[in-house]
Amino acid sequence: MMQRDDLTFRYAHKEEAAILHEYDSRIFGDSWSEKSYLGSIFSSTELVPVAVDTETGEIAAFAAVSYVLDEANINRIAVIPEFRGRGIGTSLLEWIEENIPDEVTEINLEVRESNKYAIEMYKNFGYTVLGRRKKFYRNPEEDALLMTKRKVDR
Ligand SMILES: CC(C)(COP(=O)(O)OP(=O)(O)OC[C@H]1O[C@@H](n2cnc3c(N)ncnc32)[C@H](O)[C@@H]1OP(=O)(O)O)[C@@H](O)C(=O)NCCC(=O)NCCS
Repeated sequence: MMQRDDLTFRYAHKEEAAILHEYDSRIFGDSWSEKSYLGSIFSSTELVPVAVDTETGEIAAFAAVSYVLDEANINRIAVIPEFRGRGIGTSLLEWIEENIPDEVTEINLEVRESNKYAIEMYKNFGYTVLGRRKKFYRNPEEDALLMTKRKVDR
């Protein structure tokens, strides 16, 4: 991964569940509660990676990943609006892929079909569209594209 000094990558601490919920509710229509972030932070099959501004300690981006055996699912990934367009989403996704448990060989995710920036980012990473989940999202209702990547290079 390209080294960058402006960001520090790590997993979220339990004290950060409240702020993650707050950011999440600003970004996503179907927001996750503080309790669900707390649950994910403590879960042995979920990860909550964050990218933190090295200087200020502020969370610039966050994600939520779950995994079972050889498959992982990226359930959330978001960059705080003020930090977008600076490669932070790309860096966080790289960090996630590099730090995912060794047994994971396939990463899946769903994305709103109208979310062209995210779809573009995933395609740049080698994710391909596998299918569509009808009316997967609400608020507003929309189909999801199911995207996948096989990780054989580790
Ligand atoms: C999708 C998201 C995570 C991208 O994060 P980011 O830090 O802004 O993205 P990056 O700067 O790393 O750019 C990654 C790619 O996204 C696309 N992209 C990002 N911003 C873009 C813009 N303003 N115009 C066009 N493409 C853009 C480009 O393909 C870009 O790659 P490139 O710079 O090589 O062209 C961010 O826009 C976001 O948080 N969106 C809201 C939450 C969300 O939709 N998450 C995905 C849910 S599945």
